[in-house]
Amino acid sequence: MSNRLNVKPNDLSAFWMPFTANRQFKQAPRMLVAAKDMHYTADDGRRILDGTAGLWCVNAGHCRPRITEAIQKQVAELDYAPAFQMGHPIVFEFANRLVDMAPAGLEHVFFTNSGSESVETALKIALAYHRARGDGARFRLIGRERGYHGVNFGGISVGGIVANRKMFGTLLTGVDHLPHTHLPGRNAFTRGEPEHGAELADELERIVALHDASTVAAVIVEPVAGSTGVLIPPKGYLKRLREICDKHGILLIFDEVITGFGRLGAPFAADYFDVVPDIMTTAKGVTNGVIPMGAVLVKKEIHDAFMNGPEHLIEFFHGYTYSGNPIASAAGLATLETYKEEGLLTRGAELAPYWEEALHSLKDAPHVIDIRNIGLVGAIELEPIAGQPTRRAFSAFLKAFEKGVLIRTTGDIIALSPPLIVEKSHIDMIVDCLKGVLDEIE
Ligand SMILES: Cc1ncc(COP(=O)(O)O)c(C=O)c1O
Repeated sequence: MSNRLNVKPNDLSAFWMPFTANRQFKQAPRMLVAAKDMHYTADDGRRILDGTAGLWCVNAGHCRPRITEAIQKQVAELDYAPAFQMGHPIVFEFANRLVDMAPAGLEHVFFTNSGSESVETALKIALAYHRARGDGARFRLIGRERGYHGVNFGGISVGGIVANRKMFGTLLTGVDHLPHTHLPGRNAFTRGEPEHGAELADELERIVALHDASTVAAVIVEPVAGSTGVLIPPKGYLKRLREICDKHGILLIFDEVITGFGRLGAPFAADYFDVVPDIMTTAKGVTNGVIPMGAVLVKKEIHDAFMNGPEHLIEFFHGYTYSGNPIASAAGLATLETYKEEGLLTRGAELAPYWEEALHSLKDAPHVIDIRNIGLVGAIELEPIAGQPTRRAFSAFLKAFEKGVLIRTTGDIIALSPPLIVEKSHIDMIVDCLKGVLDEIE
């Protein structure tokens, strides 16, 4: 174990922490100093059960030897090589492996360093694709209320989480939003996909009628909305979106940054729902969260539309210094091998019934107003304290950490997404802990 385990930082002020209540944290820090498989170790030596796979990313569990070794080997051999006008073999191999496992038709990969960058890349590919085909009047992008597509300007423009948008000016123009699909009055305590709400996809027809199809480039949605608090699409909703996009020549982008790599019990949500998008964004689980990386998978026709003009010219003016970084590529390859060897991309399907039963056993616990689940994702929605939104769930988060389980909260919703190596005994521990937490908090 690292000899940093017992070193306590003595000044927490310099690091401005992301998406954190900085002042609260710095008064009572929660420090993680090591991790293995399903557990973190806190700086006081306590083992913390990881109920969230880090931030929805450590799908194979922590510090997996194959991934660690691949990174060590790669960094000693070729630490960095540019991907602009130059190549290195491992990134090509990794792209091929991703295409092999991707839904049919997604045949090309553009590498990024995060989910946010994958989203920006996907939106730019969509706009440039239409223009490359001589259909450049298609400039509108349609997102969805409560959608989370990262924190860059394109992503917050098509995203629909108000707190992430309201401070940042005019955002992108030419953006519209579908309504969200959360219908607690009709779907509360649904197990799996809700019965009601597929008709909400028809709102796309209304938006298209308003702007005219000839101006609409793409629709982007999370197949299962994660960061807003786990909103599962109503039965038939995604198929309907696909049909409407096809009818009007609009590209469909699935943001699979959370749902990719086994989270739902299938390799991708596209497989789970049997709906193939034109562009698919991924990140997080692509390297098991170990090294920053994102990958945007694109249909052949879209890629090919760029491949014209003089051959010495760059076809797509976009890319990052670290696109396809060799160390991230090595981590990604080792991650895919780990997923494959241990059957992790479908393990969620085996455990989903147990997970569902366990979560729904909390139905009558104090404060609970809804429980939702799909694959190895779950959400427990709490009644907010009047006038103090988010406070109750934040107390639950602090209490769960005290009791040795890492959960995640967003608004007044507890979101759960354990590593896919989770055992039934861990599920029991998470649920028992939450029972205690819900009994104890105000
Ligand atoms: C669906 C979705 N898209 C994009 C992102 C942004 O990813 P990142 O934080 O790696 O930029 C996230 C992160 O949670 C996400 O859930």
